[in-house]
Amino acid sequence: MDRDLDLALVGATGFTGRLTARHLAGRVPAGTRWALAGRREDALTQLRDELVAAHPGAPVPEVLVVDSHDEPALAALVRRTQVVIAAVGPYLEHGEPLLAACARAGTDYVDLVGEPEFVDRMFLAHHATAVASGARIVHACGFDSVPHDLGALHAVQQLPGDRPITLRGVVRATGGVSGGTLASLLNAFSRLGPMRTAARERKAADPVADGRAATGVTGRPRRDPDLGLWLLPLPAIDQDVVSRSGAALASYGPDFRYSHYAGLGNPLVLGGALAGVTVGLLAAQVGPVRRFASSRLPQGTGPSDEVRAAASFTVDFRGTAGTQWVHTRVTGPDPYDLSGIALAEAALCLRHDDNPPTAGQVTTAQAMGTALTRRLEEYGVTFEVVARG
Ligand SMILES: NC(=O)c1ccc[n+]([C@@H]2O[C@H](COP(=O)([O-])OP(=O)(O)OC[C@H]3O[C@@H](n4cnc5c(N)ncnc54)[C@H](OP(=O)(O)O)[C@@H]3O)[C@@H](O)[C@H]2O)c1
Repeated sequence: MDRDLDLALVGATGFTGRLTARHLAGRVPAGTRWALAGRREDALTQLRDELVAAHPGAPVPEVLVVDSHDEPALAALVRRTQVVIAAVGPYLEHGEPLLAACARAGTDYVDLVGEPEFVDRMFLAHHATAVASGARIVHACGFDSVPHDLGALHAVQQLPGDRPITLRGVVRATGGVSGGTLASLLNAFSRLGPMRTAARERKAADPVADGRAATGVTGRPRRDPDLGLWLLPLPAIDQDVVSRSGAALASYGPDFRYSHYAGLGNPLVLGGALAGVTVGLLAAQVGPVRRFASSRLPQGTGPSDEVRAAASFTVDFRGTAGTQWVHTRVTGPDPYDLSGIALAEAALCLRHDDNPPTAGQVTTAQAMGTALTRRLEEYGVTFEVVARG
């Protein structure tokens, strides 16, 4: 197939799409052919002009007008592209046609999805097609789940790979939330039944190979005396992605168990967070309440430059294998800034780096691993060993 575009960023005019576009504009190698795609020509052209003014002499992106539900237009776009970057959300509403087109055409695909049901449904519907076409379908290339997936890989690399490994990740982050994230979260909260069904069907269709085991283990709220934090279990996309990397990669040992938590400063905050999740879950069940909550933070908006400049994240990992243990840490900038950087760098990594041969739905650790880690380290993300014994 004659592909004249290296990269196409679909959903370029969304909040995180813009952050991704800004990172790419200053980063793509000379000679790169790339495109900004979306449904609003005026907004795309304005964004292109902003990027050209900020990076004179850098490769100028093409503007492509395409709606996320226009299947013929999406098929034409992915046939001419090496790597598609999908920043259109909520993914459960708008994501499938683009991913399906990539799976059919053998086009590599990265996205920002945080909705576990979308990932499971896409595995069931398109993984086999992508394996046959050679397309790499890499979900969750933003704050969810890159620092967690690559941080878990880094922790596991410090431990012997021939013994069962138990790993715990504890995330802390400051900053704000975008309208697109809120809409996706409320949408996912309103679909707990379908989400469980998709997870069950996927589990049956996707066994761990070679007699190994890899499990996401949902913990319970409690205090972590080592970190001095209260832990809120987060059995969502990050836990899924890390345990899936554990299933795919033999270096995670014969029996890999991963639990993911938010780390909170005191029991009152933990109680407040539990109450907030419960209220959010209940509110999301009622359509008008969900729409009202979503309208408070419209799509396209997100934390300001000032809020993002002051924000950061930390993920602590504690891993044990037999008598050995390790405490590792990943730190980095504001979660949305990190999402723009990580999504763009994942696409560049697939396009340019020497990655292991993979196809179908694969995680960041599986598809790119330390090649992506090295790229993120250039942008202020750190991976360190804090202690070991
Ligand atoms: N993994 C992570 O850590 C992470 C981080 C950030 C965001 N996200 C996820 O990424 C998604 C986007 O977030 P965001 O904050 O950037 O949201 P947003 O600002 O609302 O952006 C949504 C994008 O989707 C586009 N879109 C919606 N319907 C479309 C359609 N029918 N045809 C074409 N384009 C359409 C919008 O186009 P217009 O600009 O024309 O409206 C916009 O580009 C959300 O699902 C969010 O949860 C994940």
